[in-house]
Amino acid sequence: MKGIVLAGGLGTRMLPLTRVTNKHLLPVYDKPMVYYPIQALVDAGLRDIMIVTGGNSAGDFLKLLGNGEDFGLKQINYAYQKGEGGIAEALGICEQWARGDRIAVVLGDNIIERTIERAVRNFQAQPRGAKILLKEVPDPERFGVPELKGDRVVRIEEKPKQPKSRFAVVGIYMYDEQVWEFIKRCKPSGRGELEITDVNNFYIEQGTMSHDVLEGWWSDAGTFDSLLRASTLVAKGGANRKGPA
Ligand code: DAU
Repeated sequence: MKGIVLAGGLGTRMLPLTRVTNKHLLPVYDKPMVYYPIQALVDAGLRDIMIVTGGNSAGDFLKLLGNGEDFGLKQINYAYQKGEGGIAEALGICEQWARGDRIAVVLGDNIIERTIERAVRNFQAQPRGAKILLKEVPDPERFGVPELKGDRVVRIEEKPKQPKSRFAVVGIYMYDEQVWEFIKRCKPSGRGELEITDVNNFYIEQGTMSHDVLEGWWSDAGTFDSLLRASTLVAKGGANRKGPA
């Protein structure tokens, strides 16, 4: 199984912080943001990792991460997304590299307290399909929101005005090889992006999507408020604290 960190996009929500650098290089407490998703994949046992970057300062990722020796890796792979065509577009760039393998994807601005090792193991035992992670949040309208029937996710809505549950879909996704075909079926959304929520809904319609509820805290760090929140949570403890100094 291969790991992918999506750190593309232009970070326009965080101007002027992102005028001269990439959002994922900004600090979350004492480390650059992108360290946390990489460490999450490494902690889950993945060693073959691709970073998709884009926009400003792509070269700085190479300077910062090199071959990934800080994470105990022999090599890190890099890809470049032009513009801001969406999460599914950024993922599609990895097809050639990852085809034939299952993948675990972590959004570059998602920070978690604990390991996803168990979810990855559960997914590996699943015959086919995909897995998402859910977390109860006070502000689901900011995220992809699952509609639940009993314990089944029947649909996901992206940033709904009237959320159908109190859960958010966390920015950590596991997919089998069908993902590349599903990405090709996506059409640009109202915000002009290929949405990962559409990819997830294809799996749900196929009946092959499973979900776990994420343990421990989770925060995105893609707005001023959430960046502050993520930094505070990390400072208080947790969040891959055993990662590189
Ligand atoms: O944080 C979880 C949420 O992330 C999910 O609940 C939503 O369903 C999902 O759509 C996403 O929502 P956001 O609107 O918060 O995503 P955002 O545009 O902030 O992008 C999140 C990360 O994805 C970003 O830090 C880098 C990567 N990305 C995003 C875009 C738009 C790319 O690599 N390329 C892109 O073009």
